[in-house]
Amino acid sequence: MSRAAVLAGLGAVVPPREITNQMLSERLDTTDAWIRTRTGILKRHAVEPGGATSDLAVAAGEKALKSAGLATVDLVVLATATPDHPLPGTAPAVAARLGLGHIPAFDVAAVCAGFVYALSVGAGAIAARTAETVLVIGAEAFTSILNPQDRGTAILFGDGAGAVVLRADEDDEPGALAGFDLGSDGSLAELISIPGGGSRQRSGGLPPDQDDSWFTMQGREVFTQAVTHMSRSTKAVLEKVGWPVATVDRIVGHQANVRILHSVSELLGIDKERAVVHLDQVGNTSAASIPLALAAAAERGELLAGHRVALTAFGGGLAWGSAALVWPELATG
Ligand code: COA
Repeated sequence: MSRAAVLAGLGAVVPPREITNQMLSERLDTTDAWIRTRTGILKRHAVEPGGATSDLAVAAGEKALKSAGLATVDLVVLATATPDHPLPGTAPAVAARLGLGHIPAFDVAAVCAGFVYALSVGAGAIAARTAETVLVIGAEAFTSILNPQDRGTAILFGDGAGAVVLRADEDDEPGALAGFDLGSDGSLAELISIPGGGSRQRSGGLPPDQDDSWFTMQGREVFTQAVTHMSRSTKAVLEKVGWPVATVDRIVGHQANVRILHSVSELLGIDKERAVVHLDQVGNTSAASIPLALAAAAERGELLAGHRVALTAFGGGLAWGSAALVWPELATG
């Protein structure tokens, strides 16, 4: 037996304001039927004007700590593509608002793959004995970076946050993170980007153009890349931990499009009934997507203690990542 990071707490939140497909079809050239059939999304949530990622991260973090029965942790890792400000990182503010004291806290920027990356960083800190307990959060106010005129992205994304607590224990404990597979392909960075606002543009001395600061995505190409890398990466992590594909009880994929989730299941040979689907309720919430799906699936009784679970995510970077764990008994927050 050896030391491992074990899932000990889980919590998730979405802001109360709902944006339905019908509401979008009133201001964009789209329809409820198109969004529903091409993506599987029925609605998404958005922060109120003036709301920010840290508000959601704090609320999810509180729930995860409560679920773990802990008042504090040794480290906070926050995955987000929509920090409250370009700098500083949002994690220190979240740690302070949670009353966690002067602990290390930092952001991980891996867009929709961010939560799995942050999870691996948290597990790594436990393996290296720099932490006994870690709060890993995925949180996004993604609607704040969407061009309201772009039907290709405005229909897809929503806001939310999910968090887990990891604690050090033995690797045969339920909840132990058994393995990771991570990867990236920066040669395709332009498929998902915010072109403006960074050093490349600013060093040129040109005033930023309003349109450069919106999120952009080449949807069709991203779809293909997502299916390829999520299925390959899941296969890789399952091989690493020695689990035959047929023994996987649940696959919790990044919630971007139900057709992506079903294609990934099909390529892997996993019955699509085993793929957790939560995007119908929240859309694509980027780094918050997987912990929100975990919390929803746990609440619906789709994740049971002892289940073999594969997580797989993909997004801008390009970046992707997968993880494997046996689901533990958990009080959900
Ligand atoms: N409403 C109505 N019609 C739309 C539309 C919308 N919101 N968006 C696109 N269309 C139209 C297109 O103009 C096109 O029309 P045409 O055939 O007359 O040219 C048609 O629908 C098909 O467009 P296409 O882009 O091929 O659609 P799609 O089936 O690929 O679906 C996405 C588009 C964005 C939903 C899909 O590509 C997708 O989910 N991509 C991946 C997103 C993702 O994985 N993100 C994760 C990483 S962050």
